[in-house]
Amino acid sequence: MDQEDYEPLLDPDRHTRESPQNIYLKKVQNKNLYLATFAAVLGPLSFGFVLGYSSPAIADLKNADDPRLVLDKNAASWFGSIVTIGAAVGGVFGGWIVDRIGRKLSLMLCAVPFVLGFTLIISAQNVWMLFGGRFLNGLASGVTSLVVPVYISETSHSGVRGTLGSCVQLMVVTGILGSYIAGMILEWRWLAVFCSVPPIFMLILMCFMPETPRYLINQDKFSEALSALRFLRGPEADHEWEYRQIESSGDDQESSLRIAELRNPSIYKPFLIGIFLMVFQQFTGINAIMFYADTIFEEANFKNSSLASVIVGVIQVVFTAVAALIMDKAGRKVLLIISGITMAISATLFGVYFKITEIPVNNASRLLLPPTDLPPSPVDHLAWLALASMCLFITGFALGWGPIPWLVMSEIFPLRARGIASGVCVVTNWGCAFLVTKEFHDLMDYLTSYGTYWLFAGFCVLNVLFTVFYVPETKGKTLEQIERYFQQSQVPGTVGSFPNSVQ
Ligand code: BGC
Repeated sequence: MDQEDYEPLLDPDRHTRESPQNIYLKKVQNKNLYLATFAAVLGPLSFGFVLGYSSPAIADLKNADDPRLVLDKNAASWFGSIVTIGAAVGGVFGGWIVDRIGRKLSLMLCAVPFVLGFTLIISAQNVWMLFGGRFLNGLASGVTSLVVPVYISETSHSGVRGTLGSCVQLMVVTGILGSYIAGMILEWRWLAVFCSVPPIFMLILMCFMPETPRYLINQDKFSEALSALRFLRGPEADHEWEYRQIESSGDDQESSLRIAELRNPSIYKPFLIGIFLMVFQQFTGINAIMFYADTIFEEANFKNSSLASVIVGVIQVVFTAVAALIMDKAGRKVLLIISGITMAISATLFGVYFKITEIPVNNASRLLLPPTDLPPSPVDHLAWLALASMCLFITGFALGWGPIPWLVMSEIFPLRARGIASGVCVVTNWGCAFLVTKEFHDLMDYLTSYGTYWLFAGFCVLNVLFTVFYVPETKGKTLEQIERYFQQSQVPGTVGSFPNSVQ
């Protein structure tokens, strides 16, 4: 690494010492980078539509005109959860193709299972075709949730990487909300037609966007990498300077990861951080809480439960947007800590609500009943507590633990381990999502309902401790600096630190 590239220089205009990186960033124009990010995040938007689709579609399909398509309670639960299995498989597949055919092509390929999945649903003659369609949609979502964060972080620069990376989650929650709103107007087949539009746009727009410069350099396609940088940074920037920084990062001597290297702290440390971030995200209980949102709103006397889903969706979109806007100023760690504390408090309050109202264990299944079948509760006047806790919980999640695990996943792995390591993270995330949503009922029986929410609160406290002690702050650092941070931490007696010029 050419050390002087990171030494502060005298800024001729302001006579102050500035890092070459800051001087470089001043000349950068972000227009094309924003365009490339917009094209890529149509992927997460599609994946949000897939996640949100089940709620309005299940309501329609329970009373479908065609008896072959009617979903009973068990089939409805599979229709919702098979997406998580497809997405876990998509994580394995995505981790494999992203290093072989590249980030851009992998993303474009996702359009196929997205559209094919919805086509299968639209033309379904039996429930197996519905399940098949949902599985394909899940597969596409799994690949997308891996490829898009990587594409964005490898095309961005350190000044905006946090904000642009957070747009992944912003588009997921926008897609969920979009499905809920469209589902109030469209019946399930037309809703599926509507949901197929974003992946088609993504495919068309991505044709005009470049592959990431880092992937191209790793593939020895040097002139393509330079033109990708020229496109992304605009004509004024000294993109050859950035090219040299990436090229000399020291990671590209070996193009693929060997198993033996897993013993190397510069590999296993980020690997473990990524995996734990995903486990902790799911063990906050977010999906279980969102799943029962309708029932909780109904208990608080909100008669229109689809409106309840829309309210949850709006809270998520607004606070994820806030997180995206402040990500590069506040930093990842601070937001993760605030988010974890907010969720710990709200999950505890949730438990308090259940404890006070003392819904007996065998009655906890009240929560599993459709809202309209619920018997009146003697403690309805306390429903505001459940409602307030839930809104606070969703706000907390949106501010940190929603977007940041995906963002940090795309930042901390060395280039040649990025595909496989991100694949493992995606499988872990979706596997845990499946486990938590499927096991939630049993957990309520074993631990009582308040015990379950206090368990989630306990995990949120662990999230905070984990963040404080193990998650590095990546704000303002280039991917190459982050990589060197982990390399330094492998030398005995040294602690990884970021170069002074960017602190
Ligand atoms: C999580 C999903 C969750 C979604 C909700 C994502 O970051 O990985 O499991 O359903 O956020 O907003």
